[in-house]
Amino acid sequence: MIDATLIAGDGIGPEVVDATVRVLDALGSPFAWDRQPGGMEAVAIAGDPLPPATLASIKRTRLALKGPLTTPIGGGFRSVNVRLREEFQLYANVRPARTLIPGGRYEDLDLVIIRENLEGFYVAFEHYIPVGDDSHGVAISSGVNTRAGAQRILRYAFEYAIRNGRKKVTAVHKANVLKALTGLFLEEARTMAKEYEGRVVLDDRIVDACAMQLVLNPWQFDVIVTTNLFGDILSDEAAGLVGGLGMAPGANIGKTAAIFEAVHGSAPDIAGKGIANPTSLMLAAALMLEHVGLAKDKQRLEDAVSAVMNQDGIRTGDLGGKATTKEFTDGVIQRLAA
Ligand code: NAI
Ligand code: MG
Repeated sequence: MIDATLIAGDGIGPEVVDATVRVLDALGSPFAWDRQPGGMEAVAIAGDPLPPATLASIKRTRLALKGPLTTPIGGGFRSVNVRLREEFQLYANVRPARTLIPGGRYEDLDLVIIRENLEGFYVAFEHYIPVGDDSHGVAISSGVNTRAGAQRILRYAFEYAIRNGRKKVTAVHKANVLKALTGLFLEEARTMAKEYEGRVVLDDRIVDACAMQLVLNPWQFDVIVTTNLFGDILSDEAAGLVGGLGMAPGANIGKTAAIFEAVHGSAPDIAGKGIANPTSLMLAAALMLEHVGLAKDKQRLEDAVSAVMNQDGIRTGDLGGKATTKEFTDGVIQRLAA
């Protein structure tokens, strides 16, 4: 058995987490769950959306599956997701975007966005300067990219490409304008590419052009690696190409811990109705299986999810279907048993 922390999260979190755990059980997965509170539930229990016990659990297991967490606005709490990334130095955010449902606008798409998860504008060095009686007359934000941080994420991207039989890494930047902040990233990409000559090709794009190319011809991309804010935006865009946030998994990887999650939020508008699409978290669990060396189980789970959507025609409302979370999940379990 492999110890792993399980955080149900807020809104639709408990629904999609339950669905995913049922599917993992049906698959005979090796995870021994240590269930811990996070988000609003944890605020109610412990007065903190990320209580010490939850942190201690992840420190012990170094592996977690989490549902979405609501970030209370104006409550004085920092984003739990950002705290987790910092606490465990989860420097790589990996977001595959693969077509699951044929017949749409973007058939056979299979790309991966690797986003730097700790630096850039997310360091939140921000302040205001008053102008006259306007206390917010000027807003200032500083981005921080380090050479070491750029090397770390670029190394991850090149190694990821090799491990997964991918041929091209595209470094996305805005070095024409943010010459220092993102120029450093591009410079490091070019330097590192020399080490991988003959194995992986490096390509680069300016972020705005990349955003357009993702719409016009996303098939040209294989692995995209980029800084924090650009990665945030492009990875949601890529999720949109393959059916929306309900379909996209995410992995947050550090040297000593890894946290897997759906990329969508807590969806308060549909919480408790039993209609959420659990695919995103199920695919995140598939990435988690791969992470612990169970590539075959990952494939089985992905194949079962695809078969339920495409052959059995069982789809949740966000995909134009009528199935409930439970019906979809039962479908996946039946497929796994077949
Ligand atoms: P959201 O992703 O929760 O919802 C956006 C829209 O997509 C809603 O209409 C929702 O019903 C729909 N949707 C999302 N997931 C779905 C699913 N699995 N099945 C069917 N429909 C789905 O984004 P929103 O509304 O901006 O954020 C709500 C809360 O979630 C906020 O407190 C935010 O901070 C938090 N959040 C947490 C994240 C995390 O923990 N990783 C990521 C994004 C947002
Ligand atoms: Mg985002």
